[in-house]
Amino acid sequence: MINPTDGPALKRFLTREQIHQRVAEMGAQISRDFAGQTIVLVGVLKGAAIFLADLARAITVDCTFDFVAVSSYGKANRSSGAVRLIKDLDHAIENRNVILVEDILDTGLTLCYLRNMLLQRKPATLKIAAFLDKPARRLQTIEADYVGFPMPNDFVIGYGMDFAEHYRNLPDICWMPADVHD
Ligand code: IMP
Repeated sequence: MINPTDGPALKRFLTREQIHQRVAEMGAQISRDFAGQTIVLVGVLKGAAIFLADLARAITVDCTFDFVAVSSYGKANRSSGAVRLIKDLDHAIENRNVILVEDILDTGLTLCYLRNMLLQRKPATLKIAAFLDKPARRLQTIEADYVGFPMPNDFVIGYGMDFAEHYRNLPDICWMPADVHD
């Protein structure tokens, strides 16, 4: 494993300053779209935890948090198959404005599964906020309503995103070095 403090070994995709700036813009957009209303932010554990914490503080309208956790069968670094719910919401979302908050939209399998599950509970509105989007990897048709940055078909770590559970604590988003990744 690479030491997260071993900065020079990692190539940055996005610096913490770029992340902060974009999250502020996303929070302002969401605050405008939901002016005068209340929102439930639903974070997808564990990857979205850090993005949700930052996004929530950039939102100026009243909001509450809830979390779901899923696991996908497949390789350690890619979701590639069936999605399974391992932690459900704590509270009902009927008639609420829900924003599903995800670190990265990749094949779309996770968010399609969660969107269908949450729509069955009849929220007033359901939006998706994904900090990163890899459109070239999509296997299911789904787009986020709020996207931080599009990115190419490559693997990143940091800002909540992991490789085999490590590197989530990197403050910048870095390219996964090929020698560790493969
Ligand atoms: P999807 O179901 O393929 O859209 O996968 C979404 C999940 O895959 C994300 O929430 C991440 O947990 C994981 N993932 C996809 N790409 C990356 C990446 O580049 N780095 C870290 N995790 C990733």
